[in-house]
Amino acid sequence: MPITWIAIERPTIRWAPPAANGSSRAGSASDVALQRAPPRPRRAWHAGKCRTPNLRHTAIKLPYPDPMITHNTSSKLARNDNGRLSVMIIEAGQVAVVTGAAQGLGRALAAGLLDRGVSVVLADIATESLHDTAEAFTARGAAILPVTTDVSDPVAVTTLAARTLEHFGRVDLVVNNAGIANGGGQPLWQSDPQDWQRVLAVNLLGVVHGIQAFVPHLVAAGAGHVVNIASLAGLIASPFGAAYCASKHAVVALSETLRSALEIMSLPIGVTVVCPGLVRTPLGERVIALAQADDDGWAEQAPAGLPMERTQRLRAAIQYLLLTVIEPEVAAERILAAVEANRLYELTHGDPEDGARHRVEGILAALDNHS
Ligand SMILES: NC(=O)c1ccc[n+]([C@@H]2O[C@H](COP(=O)([O-])OP(=O)(O)OC[C@H]3O[C@@H](n4cnc5c(N)ncnc54)[C@H](O)[C@@H]3O)[C@@H](O)[C@H]2O)c1
Repeated sequence: MPITWIAIERPTIRWAPPAANGSSRAGSASDVALQRAPPRPRRAWHAGKCRTPNLRHTAIKLPYPDPMITHNTSSKLARNDNGRLSVMIIEAGQVAVVTGAAQGLGRALAAGLLDRGVSVVLADIATESLHDTAEAFTARGAAILPVTTDVSDPVAVTTLAARTLEHFGRVDLVVNNAGIANGGGQPLWQSDPQDWQRVLAVNLLGVVHGIQAFVPHLVAAGAGHVVNIASLAGLIASPFGAAYCASKHAVVALSETLRSALEIMSLPIGVTVVCPGLVRTPLGERVIALAQADDDGWAEQAPAGLPMERTQRLRAAIQYLLLTVIEPEVAAERILAAVEANRLYELTHGDPEDGARHRVEGILAALDNHS
């Protein structure tokens, strides 16, 4: 059975501080070329200051609002030019659309919204389980509308938006949650091109289609919130899940650009990108089963060609993930709280292995090398 490697090994490469002579690494030919490159002016994204090596600490007034500066990554409530809050309090009478709502995290998010009196359009490619879920939700009070939708098909997602508006007359919250795992635990150079197509079509383009179909309606209404479900794999690199990892990094990046565009255009629409760790869902169960596998089960599924010591470390890392697993209902509550706080990033599990922190430290160290 194919496995999904959303787990990563704790990075073993650490960033060393630059040496006293200013070079941080023993030089290859490309390093030498890099060291010889003239210093480029760089702009700081904090405190509204623009700094270059020669103009350090000199504030320069930008002739345009810089999205890197106006970008609101905190839980502070942003106001547009009319003073309207771009924050959404989730309450009865609103309408939400959740993709991938038949099971797992999408289902838990839909349940959390219904419990708050929000009507929910449940969208999923799996018609049968979608209707089972819709039936199970009928007693929850608020209205539901199941719509079979393949998020990788832009026409289907446009139809989903039309059905939502036709049925409920409004939309307030869009949750682009539908996602799939990549097919196997190979390194990138051995991965299947069709697997890339499949994973990017759902995980990346599915989110793009959701934004293109629904955001114009939120903009027209002058309010609303978009939630994109990425993953911790969207903040760190995993050795054997390139397609999944790349798709989730892209979801983080497009969420940031969406939020920047909305803020720069003073449109009071919130955006949250969610980066969960392991959640106990049918998708997560495959990782959980691997973490719990006995030696034979593990040997069957471990990536081929890894030295024993590496295999053991990978196994330990996956077993560690098991300690951090949360229920989908818990993740859903954290996500809905992030919407109400208008947080750009929601890390439902924190950063248990410090993987995101190490990646960011590496980038910061690279920046320091140029200062
Ligand atoms: N479970 C985890 O550990 C975990 C961790 C990080 C991120 N995530 C992300 O959370 C999201 C939800 O995952 P989950 O764990 O609930 O997975 P899941 O497999 O349990 O549920 C995903 C749902 O999406 C639906 N779906 C798949 N392809 C679709 C398509 N083309 N169009 C519409 N619906 C489609 C499936 O039918 C299913 O109902 C995904 O984006 C996933 O990548 C999950």
